[in-house]
Amino acid sequence: MFNIFTKQTKKKLGEEKTINFSKDGDIPKHIAIIMDGNGRWAQKRRLPRIAGHKEGMNNVKKITTYASKLGVKVLTLYAFSTENWKRPSNEVDFLMKLPVDFFDVFVPELIKENVKVNVMGFTEHLPKHTQKAVENAIKETKNNTGMILNFALNYGSRAEILTAVNDLLNEVKQGNFTEEVDEDMFSNYLMTASLGNELQDPDLLIRTSGEERISNFLLWQIAYSELYFTETYWPEFSLVHLEEAIGSYQKRQRRFGGLKIEGEASK
Ligand code: IPE
Ligand code: IPE
Ligand code: MG
Repeated sequence: MFNIFTKQTKKKLGEEKTINFSKDGDIPKHIAIIMDGNGRWAQKRRLPRIAGHKEGMNNVKKITTYASKLGVKVLTLYAFSTENWKRPSNEVDFLMKLPVDFFDVFVPELIKENVKVNVMGFTEHLPKHTQKAVENAIKETKNNTGMILNFALNYGSRAEILTAVNDLLNEVKQGNFTEEVDEDMFSNYLMTASLGNELQDPDLLIRTSGEERISNFLLWQIAYSELYFTETYWPEFSLVHLEEAIGSYQKRQRRFGGLKIEGEASK
């Protein structure tokens, strides 16, 4: 599988480290990222936290374009959690305006890249201007057939699972089904259902900023995801860092509780 190796030296990180990443190797179909560390990135520079969010947004553009070029099928980005409403209102207001600026500038490039925008979360609770920006981006990219850029916006996994359970209970009350609920059926009630069976679950979950927790993200879907944590703050997470994360993924052997998958080169 690893016939061509691109060896990159991570001089940017201040450490000499060779990473093995192959563009022709196993590229994760679905990458999910907990984009964390915007505030600390700004504080380190004596800037207000919102400056970190702006820089973080610019980084989304770079990482999206590169992921699409690498052949990633779904890139899910955790942009705002159901718990992030606890933050000061000026920060929340700024975060709610970001999609407006982001899509205004970036949609033409997304169209050029054939990227399709999808949003999952409790979008009905977002301010009207945020909803409108999101709806427009979805509409304008709906015929694109390349990578899905899936924003988790006002997303929380526990609320997602509870909503699925209540939807199922309603179906039962209405007598719509009597059989037992299995995993596939349950998945169809989650916010990732529109990604289709093959792509609902991330292959690789990345969290930036040094925190090693999940923070209510895709609890059901990451059952067998490969996890990758890095100290790098999101605004500094570069294309080389993405290659490093994928390089780490390419070295791993996924077993899903079984034994080594037949035909897979030993790693
Ligand atoms: C992630 O960066 C962005 C959002 C949660 C919206 P943070 O804002 O959490 O940055 P830190 O963790 O405080 O550094
Ligand atoms: C997770 O980051 C949510 C997003 C990146 C959108 P947080 O910064 O909100 O997570 P905690 O509070 O550190 O767990
Ligand atoms: Mg944070």
